[in-house]
Amino acid sequence: MSREDVICACRHVTKGEVRDAMKAGADCFKDVRKATGAGGKCGKCKKKIKKYMDRHRDADP
Ligand code: FES
Repeated sequence: MSREDVICACRHVTKGEVRDAMKAGADCFKDVRKATGAGGKCGKCKKKIKKYMDRHRDADP
């Protein structure tokens, strides 16, 4: 898995950007959407982003 992987196609947001938003304090999907714009269009990526966040929440920054 790479930081460059696009997690939200509509807004072209990468996993790395989601990760950075989490490091900056985002801890729910809404926060990530606010910080990156991800999920703000079709919403199809919402599940993917939530899963990704769950997987990385406890990982070291
Ligand atoms: S893929 Fe993220 S809003 Fe459409």
